[in-house]
Amino acid sequence: MLNKLLANALPYMPKKLIWIFSKRYIAGETIEDGLKASRELNKQGIEVTVDLLGEFISTIKEAEENRNKYIELIERFTSEGIVGHFSVKPTSFGLLIDKDVCYSNIEAVVLKAVEKKTFIRIDMEDSQCVDDELDMYRKLQQKYPANVGLVIQAYLRRTKNDLMNMSTIHTNGNPLNFRLCKGIYVEPKNIAFKAPEEIREHYLDDLRYMLDNNMYVGIATHDKHQIDNAMNIIKEKNIDKTKYEFQMLYGVTPELRSSIVKQGHKMRVYVPFGKDWFGYSTRRLKENPKMASHIVKALFFR
Ligand code: FDA
Repeated sequence: MLNKLLANALPYMPKKLIWIFSKRYIAGETIEDGLKASRELNKQGIEVTVDLLGEFISTIKEAEENRNKYIELIERFTSEGIVGHFSVKPTSFGLLIDKDVCYSNIEAVVLKAVEKKTFIRIDMEDSQCVDDELDMYRKLQQKYPANVGLVIQAYLRRTKNDLMNMSTIHTNGNPLNFRLCKGIYVEPKNIAFKAPEEIREHYLDDLRYMLDNNMYVGIATHDKHQIDNAMNIIKEKNIDKTKYEFQMLYGVTPELRSSIVKQGHKMRVYVPFGKDWFGYSTRRLKENPKMASHIVKALFFR
């Protein structure tokens, strides 16, 4: 209840106050900030996936501007030798305005990734976007199999079925490449599992399925118990280190992150940055009011 009240009040709070919370989770406003955070992570043996903030748009022109900004971003990060990938949110490229324009915009970004020998991850957004995002991945995967991947949300009731359908994609030797996360958007009961234990079980079930079907998986979670379980599954199945990685969000559970790296597993950190950090932070908190408790912690434990 308190979390919900706090989350609703956030957009009306002074920007400076929100920044106190956000600065732990956002690399900064500029490309230089994103580069700096990525370089520091690379120095610790951690790869990155970079997200340029700025999600909700209402015109094709804004979608095209985002496409151009990402192309510039890829040019800059690769020329600076950053070891990492790029994450895109299709709604920023026009998904909710015109699907075809969105596809062309994202394809242009993927083409830049092909040129620079890097990789684009399509983030998964709320349930109204899932069909289109799966579809976009299927098409792009067929054309650029080594340069594009998708996010899978374990809390969706449909996910196992989606995975089974995708397992029939003819991959020409390139494994399908997924980031497996719990799912962050608030969805109704008929669409998503709600109980934390149920989501955890489905997460592990999806993970087993991916590993059994030769899919590359980015195990994206900060849940220690879940990480231990994932490591046990990897051990039991004797999965090679080249077939999976762990992923975490910038600023979240850094000690747990280091312990995973020390054990010799590959780690990738999601690095969000950009001028729209305020919108990003307040929207995330409205979507998931439970996260508001992190603000309180951040306010007191700086
Ligand atoms: P859980 O929510 O149980 O968190 C475990 C612990 O981690 C918490 O107790 C807390 O200590 C800490 N923690 C988790 N999140 C935190 C936060 N934001 N701030 C501070 N502490 C936090 N979702 C989605 O729907 N589409 C997507 O494309 C992505 N992409 C994505 C990329 C990467 C790299 C990660 C790690 C996550 C995502 N997510 C996502 C978000 C994901 O779905 C999920 O909501 C969060 O990772 C939180 O779930 P956990 O598995 O970490 O467990």
